[in-house]
Amino acid sequence: MAFLALIELLGRMHPLLVHLPIGFLIFGIFLIFYSKKENNLLPAVRLAVILGLLAAIASAISGWLLYQSEGFAFETVRGHLIAGVITSILSGWLLWVSHRRTAVDRSIKWISAALGIALLITGHLGGNLTHGDDYLVEVLPEPVQSWLGYEPEAPKPIALDPDQWQEALVYEDLVMPILQQNCVSCHSPKNKKGGLMLTSIEAIQQGGENGPVLTKENPLESPLVARMLLPLDHEDHMPPKEKRQPEKAHIELLKAWIAAGADFSKTLGAAGIEKNLLIPFFKKESIPDFPITDLPPIPVDSLKVFAEKGILVEPISLDNSLLKVSCINFADFTDADWEMLEGIGSHIAWLDLSGTAVSDSLMVHVAGLPNLTVLKLSNTALRGILLEKLNANTNLKRLYLNQTEVDWNTLEVLKTHPSLMGLFAYNTPASKSETPDWAKKWGIKLETGGYQLPVVETEKVVY
Ligand code: HEC
Repeated sequence: MAFLALIELLGRMHPLLVHLPIGFLIFGIFLIFYSKKENNLLPAVRLAVILGLLAAIASAISGWLLYQSEGFAFETVRGHLIAGVITSILSGWLLWVSHRRTAVDRSIKWISAALGIALLITGHLGGNLTHGDDYLVEVLPEPVQSWLGYEPEAPKPIALDPDQWQEALVYEDLVMPILQQNCVSCHSPKNKKGGLMLTSIEAIQQGGENGPVLTKENPLESPLVARMLLPLDHEDHMPPKEKRQPEKAHIELLKAWIAAGADFSKTLGAAGIEKNLLIPFFKKESIPDFPITDLPPIPVDSLKVFAEKGILVEPISLDNSLLKVSCINFADFTDADWEMLEGIGSHIAWLDLSGTAVSDSLMVHVAGLPNLTVLKLSNTALRGILLEKLNANTNLKRLYLNQTEVDWNTLEVLKTHPSLMGLFAYNTPASKSETPDWAKKWGIKLETGGYQLPVVETEKVVY
């Protein structure tokens, strides 16, 4: 135990020890270039170089121990290590040559110049390891930083598409930005508090000085989350009490992620994360301009009948008599149920029938609704055969047809729609086939999730 501690201590002396060879060798190099015929400093050079060489070897050993005990990835230390070895070899060579000469000559000068460069590179790469490679750049003005290629890293914004959230990635799109916003200021390569970095998958898996921070499927046994759940004035609470605390939704999401197995590559759908937990992360839908009308407002009381049936009907805004209708809690809504909404049809500006049992014949009912601006029919059995009816809706701006059976042939009738500005058709036969030219030239916001050409067999043949 004591021996291990000693080894670790010696490793940690590395950043201190390295200044010895730097000092000796630079001094030696100075002597070499200062040496004149009349004052031959070669004996002093030999002394400086031998001390430098010994110190370089000691530094190398402590560096190796540090690398072993702190668990750096080899790729991160490789450059520094190679440069360090080259520095040691050059010092050895310089020593050897200086013993074979009686005065400083050209070859000694050349080797010492090379040694100086190697020393500079080793030191710089080593400094990057301890302080982060933006340590020096950080103090420069921002334009200079970006000119040098260092974009100060802004946390990735969290904005899930409410219609497409299943496709978002748990780690990339949620966990990583949450850690960036709340933890990374203290847990990065630059600022590795508690020996913990939360900046990459490998680092998170590696954990901190007290071991792993994730226990799969057990959030309460995972220090990463358990520490956030401790009472605020517990000394282990994370982030420390005086710092900004994460939102509840952030903590709940991390809990659910770990409970689901702390996977780093799955989508939200595949990981089985509940939609309820995700609502706070949905991007706020920008609201299109609704038509201005002089329709008389419908008394709020008379909207209660809809609530009893499970249909949410509410005014779009206080100063507007238009209505927003959602059947999100009425999955059995069929075309025939439209009857209930008939009376308020001309007031409906926003209609969400996603996930209900409606079919193509619904188009006959909604056709021509004068103020309908947003129509959501995602997740229904719609094939799109009656979509042309919607050309009579002269205020329709957005149409959501995600996860339906629409294809480019049925969509083409909307090509000349008078007001449509956005069409959403992820996960449809259309999104799974190539976008035809007419659609590419359409000029509206067309979201299908991007189709990639399948690799044709001949493309794989290597000639
Ligand atoms: C203001 C700086 C700061 C912030 C922000 C911060 N931490 Fe820490 N963290 C520390 C310090 C200091 C330690 C070491 C002392 C300790 O263990 O309590 C530490 C230690 C830890 C440890 C223990 C590592 C180990 O193995 O000992 C975990 C886990 C941890 N933090 C998680 C987090 C999480 C998760 C967040 C974000 C929600 C976070 N921290 C935000 C400063 C911070």
